[in-house]
Amino acid sequence: MGPALNILGIESSCDETSAAVVRNGLTVLSNVTATSLKEHEKYGGIIPEIASRRQLEVIYGIVQAALNKARVKLSSIFAVAFTDRPGLIGSLLVGASFARALGFAIRKPLIQVDHLHAHLYANFLSTKKTPCVKHNARGFPRLPAIGLVVSGGHTSLFHVTDFHHFQLLGRTLDDAAGEAFDKVSRILGFGYPGGPAIDRVAGSVKETSLRFPAADLAGSFDFSFSGLKTAILYYRQKHNDLGPKQTAEIAFSFQNSIVTVLIKKAIAACQKKNVKTLLIGGGVAANSLLRRRLAIESKKNDIRLFIPEPELCLDNAAMIAGYGYHLVFKRPPRTPGTGKNS
Ligand code: KG4
Ligand code: ZN
Repeated sequence: MGPALNILGIESSCDETSAAVVRNGLTVLSNVTATSLKEHEKYGGIIPEIASRRQLEVIYGIVQAALNKARVKLSSIFAVAFTDRPGLIGSLLVGASFARALGFAIRKPLIQVDHLHAHLYANFLSTKKTPCVKHNARGFPRLPAIGLVVSGGHTSLFHVTDFHHFQLLGRTLDDAAGEAFDKVSRILGFGYPGGPAIDRVAGSVKETSLRFPAADLAGSFDFSFSGLKTAILYYRQKHNDLGPKQTAEIAFSFQNSIVTVLIKKAIAACQKKNVKTLLIGGGVAANSLLRRRLAIESKKNDIRLFIPEPELCLDNAAMIAGYGYHLVFKRPPRTPGTGKNS
């Protein structure tokens, strides 16, 4: 292998401020994230102005912490990668301005990274210091692949040919999957962020006769979750005396519907494109039912499934630094030890 190239990544597209150092596009040396989530809790969603103000305050310390944790000096950083889209404009501006100023000061190149593509790239990353062929227990994903990004702002299904070419097959027509989790959680009184709360509460339920189906949009790879959310809102308004057991059952049924439609479309996309690799990314990929059921369904369909470890599903700068390396060197990361490209 050639010399170790360390890339500093900066991610600030939503409420979080994250910095990371990643070696050779694969090994996460550090990944430090601060979030202003607590401050948004009482509003039931992210307030962009609060997010960007906090980011401005903490970004310097977060970048310094990432460099310290990685034991890497600024002088040995090869390039600075940052999220340039999509995201909250004020938040993106904080990360982009910081990255540009830093790159200028240390005379290092800048790499602009698409946040959604980086979520899928997280499947190449390892937090272990010395990555081996089986660094994520399954080796590296082989392309082409189908990529499903499920986050607070997006639900998008891509055909990924080589990580430079992403064909959008479908996306949500209204709410994103994570947004639906957040809104339903608020309706049910579980607070914000809703994903982890619903995941936890639904886990206590085994079965229910309650059904809240998600729109199927048969024959399309698009998604729609706002009808599901509204059905739950109306049900809740009609039954305002629900106890914790029934509320948990609603959460269970909701989670089940959303997971079912995500898996159905992801597997159908693999079949349509005759692809054997499925990559998942984004905060909702941390959902325990989604992870469990995806493992079963992909095995049944002879598909190799990759989901990042939960820390790398949620917004993080490691995926930005890792994908930044990949963009500069215009090739997939080499599989250590085998000499093969992934
Ligand atoms: O990717 P991410 O960190 O930020 C965006 O790019 O949007 O995703 C955040 C979303 C939130 O909507 C949150 O509720 C959801 O991911 N989420 C989950 C879980 N953990 C986070 N959704 C379902 N189950 C979870 N365990
Ligand atoms: Zn994200």
